[in-house]
Amino acid sequence: VFVRGGGSIVVGDDVRIEAFASLSASKGGRLEIGSMCEIRGFALVEGDTGELVIGDRSSVNPFCLLNGYGGLRIGKNVRIASHAVLLSSSHHIADPATPIVEQGIEGRSTLIEDDVWIGSHAIILGGSRVGAGSVIGAGSIVTGAIPPGVVAVGAPAKVIRSRLE
Ligand SMILES: CC(C)(COP(=O)(O)OP(=O)(O)OC[C@H]1O[C@@H](n2cnc3c(N)ncnc32)[C@H](O)[C@@H]1OP(=O)(O)O)[C@@H](O)C(=O)NCCC(=O)NCCS
Repeated sequence: VFVRGGGSIVVGDDVRIEAFASLSASKGGRLEIGSMCEIRGFALVEGDTGELVIGDRSSVNPFCLLNGYGGLRIGKNVRIASHAVLLSSSHHIADPATPIVEQGIEGRSTLIEDDVWIGSHAIILGGSRVGAGSVIGAGSIVTGAIPPGVVAVGAPAKVIRSRLE
């Protein structure tokens, strides 16, 4: 496991972190992993600069990227399938005359509530909120709020049905 900024990383009980996973919390950031979580190999779990919190009994599968730059909170019992990307920031792009790299990065607080299942290769953009018990289809792109208890798919992700009826 690759660790950077280990003094700012808190890991709960009975957590399984596989070889080649990467955990970081440098540049004043913070990373908290709840109890009974599973972080699979080659997952990048980054709390650098901001804060990344993962609730109890959640799983982060191989090749996921979780970035907490602008604050990323993940609830309990959340399943994040392989290759999913969860972001909490975006480049400023307002000025076309200035290179994007010089315009800075805006933090966008992002929330995944309890019992969410995020399909493989899904992307959750910064500023999104996925309600409790919802499912995000494989390859979908979430760009804002997804209500609780629904299945949402596509790019941008749209609700196709409720799980509550
Ligand atoms: C989201 C998901 C759970 C939907 O399951 P479902 O409710 O049974 O939905 P259906 O298969 O009946 O599909 C309903 C419609 O949504 C479409 N759809 C389903 N999943 C989609 C997806 N990921 N992206 C785009 N469209 C999708 C179907 O083509 C279908 O469209 P139609 O009505 O025009 O024919 C499932 O398709 C999925 O993406 N699962 C994630 C699998 C995964 O990532 N596993 C990783 C290991 S844990």
